[in-house]
Amino acid sequence: MTGEIPRLYMEEFYLARRRLVERMLSPSESLEEIFKLSGPLLAPMVATHGPAGLNIAPFMLSFSVRDELLGEAIAELERIRREYWGKGHTVHAAAARFLLDWVYNPERANPLRLVSHLMTRGHTYTNVSATGEAAVGILIPPDRGALELRCKARIVEEGPLYRYTNLLHDLMHTVPRGRASHPWYPALVLDVYEIYDNSYESLGRKIYPAPNTQA
Ligand SMILES: Cc1cc2nc3c(=O)[nH]c(=O)nc-3n(C[C@H](O)[C@H](O)[C@H](O)COP(=O)(O)O)c2cc1C
Repeated sequence: MTGEIPRLYMEEFYLARRRLVERMLSPSESLEEIFKLSGPLLAPMVATHGPAGLNIAPFMLSFSVRDELLGEAIAELERIRREYWGKGHTVHAAAARFLLDWVYNPERANPLRLVSHLMTRGHTYTNVSATGEAAVGILIPPDRGALELRCKARIVEEGPLYRYTNLLHDLMHTVPRGRASHPWYPALVLDVYEIYDNSYESLGRKIYPAPNTQA
């Protein structure tokens, strides 16, 4: 990491998503209502280039925990998976707890490492495999601003990051039903190295790394 993560990124993306999870724990909130205006934060657009041509597609992105905590986080995900397997939506509270304690806890997470899983070996898979690059576009809803992330990108098909990404996905989609509708998929891992503020006010100003921390 190169210097402090910008407040705009933390407040309007990382912590905004933490607040969505906090709402999941309130009995009066429905998941549909929570997610209605939050699509752009949850599934940003990922742009790539390479042998498959120019490409842009939305992906459900999440955050990784710090490298040294991956083993512990995986063990906790596996514990929740065993305990709640097939127990329907009772898993949601445990999933929200995990997200708040690990994924959206700045002490344990790496907010600059985004992960997703690729359900098809399509354009993104081909381009990232060849170039190792991706850009992510995030609209801050409804139109309050936008962030552009430039990332080192890689496909991970085994090991801790692969396990973490697929277990995280299973928590919401497979564990409640007690059966998987598809196998585990390759993980897309994005390490953010530059951030631009694309709001109407800033018009593409670089905010990370901060000018005084650049090499
Ligand atoms: C809201 C939304 C979220 C999506 N999330 C994912 C995802 O997490 N993983 C995935 O493989 N495809 C996801 N898709 C589908 C991709 O955007 C894309 O259509 C598909 O993966 C083909 O990708 P390609 O352009 O790399 O060939 C999502 C689509 C939508 C509309």
